[in-house]
Amino acid sequence: MIYNPRMPNENPNQTPYYVTTPIYYVNDRPHIGHCYTTLIADVAARAQRLVGRDVFFLTGTDEHAEKVSKTASENGKTPMEWATINAERFKDAFAFMNFSNDDFVRTTEERHKAKAIEYITQLKDQGIITLGDYEGWYDPSQEEYLTEMVAKENDYKSPVTGKELEKRVEQNWFFDLPRYEPWLKEQIESGAIRVMPEARKNEVLGRLKQGLRPVPVSRQIKEGDADWGIKMPGDDSHRIYVWIEALCNYLTTVDNDERAQYWDGEVVHLMAKDILWFHAIIWPAMLHALGKKPPQTVYAHAYWISEGTKMSKSLGNFIEIDLLQAYAEKYSLDAMRWFLTTQGPLGANDSDFAHSRFVEVYNADLANSIGNSTSRVGNMVHKYFAGQIKGTCNGEFGFENGTSLQTARQALANAGKPVDDPDRTYKIAEFADQAMAAASDALDSMDLEVMLDSGRSIVRHVDDFISYAAPFTLAKQLDALEDGEHALSSILYSCAEALRIASLLLSPAMPEKMAQLWRNWNCNHLVDPDDCNSGFVAPLVELAKWNGKHGLKPGQSIIKGEALFMRADSKEPAPEAERIS
Ligand code: MSP
Repeated sequence: MIYNPRMPNENPNQTPYYVTTPIYYVNDRPHIGHCYTTLIADVAARAQRLVGRDVFFLTGTDEHAEKVSKTASENGKTPMEWATINAERFKDAFAFMNFSNDDFVRTTEERHKAKAIEYITQLKDQGIITLGDYEGWYDPSQEEYLTEMVAKENDYKSPVTGKELEKRVEQNWFFDLPRYEPWLKEQIESGAIRVMPEARKNEVLGRLKQGLRPVPVSRQIKEGDADWGIKMPGDDSHRIYVWIEALCNYLTTVDNDERAQYWDGEVVHLMAKDILWFHAIIWPAMLHALGKKPPQTVYAHAYWISEGTKMSKSLGNFIEIDLLQAYAEKYSLDAMRWFLTTQGPLGANDSDFAHSRFVEVYNADLANSIGNSTSRVGNMVHKYFAGQIKGTCNGEFGFENGTSLQTARQALANAGKPVDDPDRTYKIAEFADQAMAAASDALDSMDLEVMLDSGRSIVRHVDDFISYAAPFTLAKQLDALEDGEHALSSILYSCAEALRIASLLLSPAMPEKMAQLWRNWNCNHLVDPDDCNSGFVAPLVELAKWNGKHGLKPGQSIIKGEALFMRADSKEPAPEAERIS
């Protein structure tokens, strides 16, 4: 499953792009939340590779938590056995989702443990981690301490699980977080560390104003504790607190000669709002103390809920990987990826996974849009030009006499059909170019929905053009119209070329379906269409040049092929998960 294509012509002017997901606890099986964060990382990684950047995409599992050893013993397994069973489940789920991660780190791996120990030792040696007493409100379900203020606000219950907080006193090793308060404030306010979306940035700055306290970085080993976790360097009576060790994964994995360029590049951490504080405050401060640069972007999305209700263990309503598999089986994997990416909680608000909405989005965005448009154009090329691209066109359609659009209007008039808005012009190539620019801007601000919508906007434009120019009417009058064949081939070339460009922009979310289209349309020059995970042959600006080196060529054959997406019936029952124990 490890994927690492490199562009043959990497652009040396662009910094490498390093995107990470949280590393997930292995006390349980993967669900929609884990898949969602990893999916948006995948879409961002694929889009960045498409624009030509050198990308490293990391995900993995967080294994040393107390809850892992606890569930292991409840299941009659050693912590390591249990961690391995679940780490494999995550790997399988992510392979199923067609994620293109370049590595999958497990915190029980030596490469991670050795480096994490090195960092903690360095911070101890620098006197930034010291021994002290600590009294505070502990959230056992999240294994973290909360400030008095946060504990009080939540009525002394866990803000995540609602379980009672415990007042705990411990002797611990502490990281001196308060000394980084002014630095953190400056970094976040100035945007040097971009905390996104904006609502989350304000939240973090607000909490920062309440002041910082030293962060415990260890746990005292008590009698009866499972032998699980990394011992505190130089103090066998403590283990490194799982959160501190887990955060280190982002660096441990690339802290070597082969991968150092990724930490020097643009680092983007993705997660949900539950764990923003660790990523926006504690981790950057640790990095600063270690003499490393902080991440550029810390992006915390909101939550998926299920059919209007928060997902929880007690309600048993988690959307697990098996339900996602059932959706993929019925509607295709890429349709499910599309739904999650475009309808997910990327912003500050939660999103609801509702079957009726799935079908609505599937029909509107896929079956009736890119699916229908590519079949229509493919069918017309098949029917009118024996399945071959006939001639090229610059994608501009004016209304002067003698232009292709004028001929199309003439055909409509001959057929006795009204021509609405006879002064209409189309600049399809320019439209596609602008959509591509909009996609790049949206990618920079992680607005994946807008990025993908720029691909859809090209499809909508093509649909509108087809309705207006009515090539099927024109095709019936080729003998009667002097310039009929040229007009028809220009119109169809422009539709197909625009859809080819749209398919590039849609491919980060739907790599398999777009590769299917490239197979049907013989676009072997973009990528190896038999392997939707192979690298592109050139950066997007080159690939998407209208009638450029990689554009559709006269004589290129277009196979009608199977429709990319069949229309779905909203009355059919929702897919059900086949529950595997
Ligand atoms: N192990 C820690 C993270 C350490 S990172 C250094 C952890 N693991 S977790 O398994 O609980 O995963 C939490 C993450 O899973 C969230 O931040 C989010 O990425 C994802 N999601 C879990 N539930 C979710 C939803 N209901 N909706 C969307 N994503 C959520 O915390």
